[in-house]
Amino acid sequence: MRIMAGRIAGRTAVVTGGCSGIGLATVRRFAEEGANVVIGDLDDAKGPGIAEEVGGTYVHVDVTDKEQVDALFKTAKDTYGSVDIAFNNAGISPPEDDSILDTDLEAWKRVQDVNLTSVYLCCKAALPYMLEQGKGSIINTASFVAVMGAATSQISYSASKGGVLSMSRELGVQFAREGVRVNALCPGPVNTPLLRELFASDPERAERRLVHVPLGRFAEPEEMANAVLFLASDESSFMTASTFLVDGGISGAYVTPV
Ligand SMILES: NC(=O)c1ccc[n+]([C@@H]2O[C@H](COP(=O)([O-])OP(=O)(O)OC[C@H]3O[C@@H](n4cnc5c(N)ncnc54)[C@H](O)[C@@H]3O)[C@@H](O)[C@H]2O)c1
Repeated sequence: MRIMAGRIAGRTAVVTGGCSGIGLATVRRFAEEGANVVIGDLDDAKGPGIAEEVGGTYVHVDVTDKEQVDALFKTAKDTYGSVDIAFNNAGISPPEDDSILDTDLEAWKRVQDVNLTSVYLCCKAALPYMLEQGKGSIINTASFVAVMGAATSQISYSASKGGVLSMSRELGVQFAREGVRVNALCPGPVNTPLLRELFASDPERAERRLVHVPLGRFAEPEEMANAVLFLASDESSFMTASTFLVDGGISGAYVTPV
């Protein structure tokens, strides 16, 4: 439902992982609200078509590679003249990342690279532009597992999201008086390919997860996109360094209604 058009009109937004799930819904939402959107992703089959659909720009980027990440933000600046919003969202949740007892070092490192080091690289690339402008909004995708432990562990994933949350908090504090806000989005389970892949092989695991969601369902990506839009726009001007939980009530529940 559109509340008001043009909430980020004329601003330039970089979205990593913009070819699927939460990122794709946010790319569309940002474009609806008037932003120039730069999509950074690995998915060259989908990227150019999505960019055309929203009148934006697609850049092939592996978010674990510093040079490619720097080039992504430079493209935004060179093409549209500013970098106003960075939604650092690309992430993975591979099956090899499981209980600490079964997760080997290679799987651990891969998840840390894609989920955590990438956010460090993206913030490091975006901040100089934003500090020069004296204004900017960074939103990093963490997860509700950054604040709560899960019995069905994905050890590196949870640790990476804890890192994203504390890095976002620290950056939010450091740059608050220079006009740059940094917040962590902490989604509950969202109906995206990432989650469907994880639960397809294990329906019992999906059911177990749902039991703990007071709203009784997984979120749709569009519901996350609305939250990201709020954090990106001036409507959240007094928010920085926050743990922005959009989790269907998970973190508030001791027992859930049945
Ligand atoms: N789906 C959920 O339940 C859920 C819950 C909490 C947090 N999250 C987080 O939200 C973010 C987005 O998740 P989603 O569910 O939309 O996932 P998704 O799998 O639907 O989309 C992820 C996108 O990131 C891209 N990507 C993956 N690795 C990349 C890399 N190295 N470089 C560039 N792009 C890369 C993929 O190509 C894909 O387009 C992730 O950080 C995820 O951890 C998801």
